[in-house]
Amino acid sequence: MAGLRDLAESQGVRFGCAVKTDALVQDAAYREAVAREANVLVAENVSKFGPLCPERGDYHWGPFDSIVEFAEANGQTVRGHTLVWHTQMPAWVTEANAEEALDAHVRAVVSRYRGRIESWDVVNEAIADDATPRDTLWRRALGPDYLAWAFRAAHAADSAAQLAYNDYSVEEICPKSDAMFQLAVSLLEAGVPLHAVGFQAHLELAAPPDLGLVRRNLQRFRALGLELLITELDIRIPEPFTEEMRVAQGNLYRALTEVCLEEGVSRMLTWGLTDRYSWVPGFFTGTGEALPLDAAYGKKPAYTGLAQAFSVVSRG
Ligand code: G3I
Repeated sequence: MAGLRDLAESQGVRFGCAVKTDALVQDAAYREAVAREANVLVAENVSKFGPLCPERGDYHWGPFDSIVEFAEANGQTVRGHTLVWHTQMPAWVTEANAEEALDAHVRAVVSRYRGRIESWDVVNEAIADDATPRDTLWRRALGPDYLAWAFRAAHAADSAAQLAYNDYSVEEICPKSDAMFQLAVSLLEAGVPLHAVGFQAHLELAAPPDLGLVRRNLQRFRALGLELLITELDIRIPEPFTEEMRVAQGNLYRALTEVCLEEGVSRMLTWGLTDRYSWVPGFFTGTGEALPLDAAYGKKPAYTGLAQAFSVVSRG
């Protein structure tokens, strides 16, 4: 039976998800679902700076290697997430050694996987919730041009990889997405190798996005010549979960995906595939069931919504 990957491919796009190494190793049903549904994978945690390099110079490649190898065995591409972030950092990186540490990290990681990672989230979440530049160790140590510096370093290490800026709460036109737009414009004007923008899309059924504003937002980034990616989609619903909410969630998955495909989004990734393994209940207490498959790998209305969108849309 066709999976979401096949339906997406029939539209000339890819569908994928974030994966957990432990589940890939331990859970055969998970492996089967990921192989059947996704043709682009991203590591949920193991390719971040802290998990990859907990001690200076001591790289733990194994968990990410196993995801890249799984992808290659299943005809899936890989997104790298993420080189520059303020979270999940190793304790050994300080403002005093930040430049040297980041330079070595980007060279080590991007060159190791050169030709095997289709697209990198070079910088993640550099804009704060109030739409100002986020105050991070990287910015304090390297100055405001650290983004340009990171993109150039990644490009030097793999000139064929797509390089993306990735952030959350930027799906609609709003002050934060305005700041992301200005950032993209200034990087492009400076000749920085920025190729794509990632809209994470961690959504809440109780506060759905205005799809008209999403459409116009996607259009303005596309007009810059950037490739559009939905990188971490999930739609959380509040407890107690009801069938009515699941249906409404499925409708939102479908409507959002249709807009994305109409506006030229090339990759749609959910942040996880099954409610069995999801960051949502742990971070947003009292919510959950955010993903296309339920905890027993059953297909939810969310799954059907994605499948329908991938079946009917004519691409923009
Ligand atoms: O691996 C350790 C384990 O050894 C330890 O025993 C356990 C105790 O807390 O922690 C485990 O690490 C956790 C890790 O997930 C793996 O499960 C971390 O505490 C926990 O903070 C970490 O959370 C991740 C979070 O990023 C970190 O900020 C989530 O799984 C992951 O889904 C989430 O992903 C982010 C994206 O990278 C960026 N966009 C937002 C998205 C959701 O927050």
